[in-house]
Formats: sequence, C-alpha cells, structure tokens
Amino acid sequence: MKLGVNIDHVATLRQVRGNVRYPDPLTAAAIVENAGADQITIHLREDRRHIQEHDLRTLRKTVSIPLNLELAADNKIVDIAAEVKPDVCTFVPEKRQELTTEGGLNVVKYFNKLRTYIKFLKEHSIAVSMFIDPETEQVDASKEIGAHAVELHTGKYCELFKDKNGGNELTRLKKSAIRADELGLHVAAGHGLNYDNTSMVVKEIPQIVEYNIGHAIIARAVFVGLLQAVTEMKQLLIGERASGLVSASERGMGGRSEV
Ligand code: PXP
Repeated sequence: MKLGVNIDHVATLRQVRGNVRYPDPLTAAAIVENAGADQITIHLREDRRHIQEHDLRTLRKTVSIPLNLELAADNKIVDIAAEVKPDVCTFVPEKRQELTTEGGLNVVKYFNKLRTYIKFLKEHSIAVSMFIDPETEQVDASKEIGAHAVELHTGKYCELFKDKNGGNELTRLKKSAIRADELGLHVAAGHGLNYDNTSMVVKEIPQIVEYNIGHAIIARAVFVGLLQAVTEMKQLLIGERASGLVSASERGMGGRSEV
C-alpha cells in the first residue's frame, strides 16, 4: 500500500506571502520521506499558484522516493516534464478558476491529444497515470491510450461520505478499480481523502494500491507536525492504527481531534 503525499499546500502557504521562502516544499518533502511515505506528489499548475518550476527541478534532485508530477495536457508543461523527468506524470484537468482539481480527465473525449503526450513522455522514460472519474469507459480508454496507471477521483465519494456514507460512489470506485486491475493497470486514488473517510475505501477496495493525499495531511500537520501527520495516515492505510490516537467518535470535522 503506497502513500503519496501531495505537498502543494506547503507551497500555497509560502505563496500567500509572495516574498518569503518559507515554508519550503523541499523541507516538507524530506520530512514526508522520513515519515515513511512512498511518493511525493506535486502539481505544477499553469497559473503557478503554489508549486513553482524551481520547486519541481530541485525536488527532482533531492527526493529519493518516486516523484509524481500532476500536470495539465499542455505543451509547455509537458515539455518541462520531459526535461525534468519525474518518475510519474499524472494527467489532470485544469481550470484557472477552480479552487482545486474538479472532476476527472475526460480521456475518451481528448483521446488523440492525450495519446500524443503519453507517447512523448513514455519516450522520455516517464510512466503516465490518468486522473479519471470512476467510470468504466474512462478506465478502458486509459488502458487503450497506453497509460500505466489510473488514479480514481474520490472527490464525490468524500462529499457524500458524511451524510450518506459515500452513497453509491463506493460502488462506482470499486467497479472501476476492479476493471482497471483486470486490465493490468496500477490503481491509485485521491482527492478529498482524510483521516475519517479513507478507511472504508482501503477496506472495501483492495485493488487500489496507492493513495495520493494532500490537504488533510498538511492541515493536520499544522497541529501535530508533518512527521506525525504523515505517519498517522500511513498507519491508517496499512491498517495499524497507532496506540494513543483518538477514537472515531472523538474525531472533529475532516480529521482527528487534536492530541
Ligand atoms: N490526486 C490528484 C490527481 C489531485 O489533483 C489532488 C489535488 O491536487 C490530490 C490527489 C490530493 O487531493 P487532496 O489535497 O484533496 O488530498
């Protein structure tokens, strides 16, 4: 079970002050790695609202666990990726106005454009993953297009978790994960996952072997430190809750009560 930690929001905190260098995503990556995470995930957005190109380039040199770069299907970003060579490139849809990535990539609709990019990145020895909604046709298209992995968008599941226990989204995620696994794709999931809603997905869908989690971990780190926040999530994923963590009934909104 792999945990990829998305450290974009460390950069968000830096960027809101514009002229400072802290908190440094490089320091965050070192702590995340030390805490036992399996991957560093970053999103180099077109508007550079958090991670900057120099972050990507330095992280490439300093991180020793796999580096997963989320990117839009855009010539400039794909060229940067081919040059810097993260271990994995995950294609995501990107709109300037959105707060965070909303919805998965439509691989069916943009098949030809995406295929060109995937071929190009594979020629540069970079594995490619597609961030898609949990829909069978998107999984099938991802296989056909030559991706090595899919990352299933858990956003809707997370939205429905509180009131409806995930509604039918868990079923949709499961169906897509089984399909992807049958097709030989590496199956990841992410978006909106936190210390409350992740367990059910882990328990119910063994085909998902990688989770990319950002906001909840960085938010918890504000109170307990990054090392502990990552360690706790990793322990949660591997089903070994550490002693001393608060019980489910004591948890606050979107994460554990503070220790
Ligand atoms: N995976 C992908 C593809 C994403 O775009 C994001 C958000 O940047 C995440 C995972 C992490 O989402 P969150 O910050 O909600 O955990």
